[in-house]
Amino acid sequence: ISLKPYNTFGIDVNAKHFVSVQSLKDLQEVLSLKAYPNKFILGGGSNMLLTQDIEALVIQIDLKGIDVVSQDNDHVVVKANAGENWHEFVLWCLQHNYGGIENLSLIPGNVGSAPIQNIGAYGVELKDVFVSCEAIDLKTLSLQTFEKSDCQFDYRESIFKQKLKDKLIITSVTLKLTATNHKLNTDYGAITSQLQEYNITKPSIQDISKAVIAIRQSKLPDPKEIGNSGSFFKNPVISKTQFEELKTQFPSIPSYEVSPTEIKIPAGWLIEHAGFKGKTLGNFGVHKKQALVLVNYGGAKGQEILNLARLIQKTVFKIFNVSIETEVNII
Ligand code: EPU
Repeated sequence: ISLKPYNTFGIDVNAKHFVSVQSLKDLQEVLSLKAYPNKFILGGGSNMLLTQDIEALVIQIDLKGIDVVSQDNDHVVVKANAGENWHEFVLWCLQHNYGGIENLSLIPGNVGSAPIQNIGAYGVELKDVFVSCEAIDLKTLSLQTFEKSDCQFDYRESIFKQKLKDKLIITSVTLKLTATNHKLNTDYGAITSQLQEYNITKPSIQDISKAVIAIRQSKLPDPKEIGNSGSFFKNPVISKTQFEELKTQFPSIPSYEVSPTEIKIPAGWLIEHAGFKGKTLGNFGVHKKQALVLVNYGGAKGQEILNLARLIQKTVFKIFNVSIETEVNII
């Protein structure tokens, strides 16, 4: 079957075998099928670039359900199954007035993928509210629990991308959210200006979500209209020494301090100043409003987009002497 509807980049490659699973029991059963030794796990398909047909058995994780595990006056612990759409889960929390993930509104993908790259936006990361997740071990088929301290979360990083890559399937995620006294995170400049535009001085978590949605819609392409996987590259972290050198050459370069010796710079700025913003090559290219996002206008091949990504990496390195790593998984 074609995987086009199952990846937000809209790349048309075929899977030789495909199955969608709705329960843990079915998942364990499918995983034990000896006839298909190679498996390929598919979540929301929002962080991958498919460059070839998949010979393995593609297993789509379609586990649904959201439950309140416990609640006291101030907090609520919520468990969501991996196949829930992330943004719909955020909206569910906002309807119940549970706070903590409103800044993560409109991030594409499913709940089960969120811990893998520790999704983050507008000053909040999943790790800030994360309690634990459950995952099936692909070898033993047993269900294991990973506490936050097990996960080695960092900027767009976790143990699930490193040591445990391809060894597990995350089946549920448990978060601790606020039920009252929400801690709002409005430090991000764009949120402040958006709230000012709404004339809101005392924002609710719902207001913040609305602001985040407006900001994202203004610069990030909607995958339903234009195929994409969000940020294609990670923002590079370089030494302060290297940054000072760059700054003398490029005085307007934006930066965030991540530690006393390290500086993060926006890859979008580097790509834009390497001349790629809005560049279109037939039916694919670099998004016009955010250079960090590569787009498929329809019918592009994964390999073509990958070639463009490699050219961008090479050019950015030549001009700025900075390596930018891909954020999406290249398959
Ligand atoms: N910039 C440019 N040109 C561009 C894009 C950005 O000069 O084409 C500059 C902006 O002017 C600004 C800076 O880069 O000074 C930062 O831009 P922005 O606020 O858009 O954020 P970002 O660093 O490009 C990151 C995340 C996004 C997340 C936003 C908001 C990464 C790789 N990306 O982007 O995440 O939504 O911050 O928090 O960390 C994603 O992961 O898919 C994603 C969209």
